[in-house]
Amino acid sequence: MCGIVGYIGSKPVADILLDGLEQLEYRGYDSSGIAVKTETSINVYKAEGKLNNLRSELALHSDEFNKSNMGIGHIRWATHGAPTVVNAHPHTCNCGSLVVVHNGIIENYKELRLELESEGCIFKSQTDTETVAHLVALMYAEVKDLTKAVQLATKKIQGAYALCIMHNNEPDKIVVTKRNAPLIIGLNDDGYYIASDVPAFIKHTKKAVYLNDNQVATLSAKDFILEDENGFEISPKIEVLPWEPVALSKMGYKHFMLKEIHEQPDVIRNILVGKLHTPDSQIILNEVKLNKDTLKNLNRIQVIACGTSLHAAMIGKYIVEDFCGIPVDVEASSEYIYRKTVTDEHTLVIGVSQSGETADTLTAIKQSKARGSHILIITNRPDSAMAREADSLIPVNAGIEVSVAATKSYIAQLTSFYLLAIYMAEIKGSMSVSELVNLKAEMLLLPQKIEQILSNKTVIQDCARKFASTRDFIYIARGINYPTALEGALKLKEISYINATGYPAGELKHGPIAMLDETMPVLSILMKGFVYEKLLSNSEEAKARNARMIALTNSNDPKLNDLFEVIIKVPEVIEVLSPIVAMIPLQLLAYYIAEFLGKDVDQPRNLAKSVTVE
Ligand code: F6R
Repeated sequence: MCGIVGYIGSKPVADILLDGLEQLEYRGYDSSGIAVKTETSINVYKAEGKLNNLRSELALHSDEFNKSNMGIGHIRWATHGAPTVVNAHPHTCNCGSLVVVHNGIIENYKELRLELESEGCIFKSQTDTETVAHLVALMYAEVKDLTKAVQLATKKIQGAYALCIMHNNEPDKIVVTKRNAPLIIGLNDDGYYIASDVPAFIKHTKKAVYLNDNQVATLSAKDFILEDENGFEISPKIEVLPWEPVALSKMGYKHFMLKEIHEQPDVIRNILVGKLHTPDSQIILNEVKLNKDTLKNLNRIQVIACGTSLHAAMIGKYIVEDFCGIPVDVEASSEYIYRKTVTDEHTLVIGVSQSGETADTLTAIKQSKARGSHILIITNRPDSAMAREADSLIPVNAGIEVSVAATKSYIAQLTSFYLLAIYMAEIKGSMSVSELVNLKAEMLLLPQKIEQILSNKTVIQDCARKFASTRDFIYIARGINYPTALEGALKLKEISYINATGYPAGELKHGPIAMLDETMPVLSILMKGFVYEKLLSNSEEAKARNARMIALTNSNDPKLNDLFEVIIKVPEVIEVLSPIVAMIPLQLLAYYIAEFLGKDVDQPRNLAKSVTVE
């Protein structure tokens, strides 16, 4: 959470910083700020709210900094202190000579603050970050070298941080360092780019160095020195990034979310290429590094994830248990890390994460790794911290997802889970040849089926219009689509702020049914298969309490016409693959409701895309 950027080189810095921050807005967007070095001073500009407010603020002062070639910037998701101008970064020391931007949390900031105040530091904000500004400034006063000051200061800091620091006395130097928060340096002929994430500089360069924890980089316009925390020089590992800048455009769609929903057929196609050719060919999954005997004899799998990724993991449980007969436990990472989990070298632990950065999942992964488990990571970011912890890494290749609400990464995670489960079933011999052929043939058809849904959205749009003013929304399903109900509800609440909840339909009568009356929409995810009739009965029960019934179905059953006020049809699909097909209309329904309500679809309030704090 929070995004940091920096630049030092030959180009004017302000636009580079602002464009970079715009690309990082998914990490937070409650305030922003930049600091630029001018001939005589470091000037700081900050604004509350969206980045456009900072742009307006800067427009008033462009004559002050338009010649500057060096600066740092920040976009904030508030943790310590309200999202105000005073709490916005960059933060400064007493005299304003030193400026810092920070992503992470300084855990011992209260102790540090008391200590620093006793030494005369005057705090202006309520943030943890300001301690860093004062601490490094005090160290600098002693050693007169910014790199050394940062190395000394970070030894006193506990917690997670990516830091970017400038000092007015060092007119050609930016010092950066990190621990448990991402930081990347982009290298180009014109200078050096610093960012929390690749999108901030990918349009300028694809050459990059990922900093490891505790490394300190000192950047000048023409030079870059990497050291460890004790000042020993390290040779940087330069990587060529696989990302394309074009992926970050809305491509004519009103919002990134809508564009990302429409990319899903191709996302599935891309995943299947090279892994699933024809219904009768075996799945190729070289990414799984567990040897086949170990896989055959696995007797336990744990899957850990948060939010939307957790819902993908829950469906993963259904399919791995169904296809392979291996027991699977799924748990929210934030719960997993604070109890005595039974994990050992005989357990396969699967971490699922779009960003590969989510703090809770990363901690959970590290804990299980320390206990000897094989770590398999399913992520959209093969360059992430989680990917670096992986023994086996399955990149889901959905392309950069900008909208805060996850859509295509979810479908990519699900597709990857199907491939993994089929791959394991083939090794274990736990499915018959005809079952496998049928399943793979159906998987190859998924992109077309999604295209059919995307080509006719009228019923979904009408439904959205009809229910946009509702206060609450209930989603019900059974079996493999129970997580679909949870994910449908999550999509709606996060972008429209409607109080939406997903229930296993059989649980309605154990309490939630009390809420039903003629104002309550109940959306039933009625996919043909094992639990269809059961869910139909649960829908009848809800209708009998006057709820406003909506069906999402692949059935032509005439009975549905009397029971449901709205029927959203999806193409025929086998039950085990129905979570992929069913999710698309639910994403669209959430999108159109939020759009009708005029909500900020891509950047919903209070959220950030990468949740890098616990
Ligand atoms: C919801 C959403 C979040 C994330 C969650 C985990 O649309 O995006 O619920 O799924 O914060 O993030 P990752 O998958 O990056 O670990």
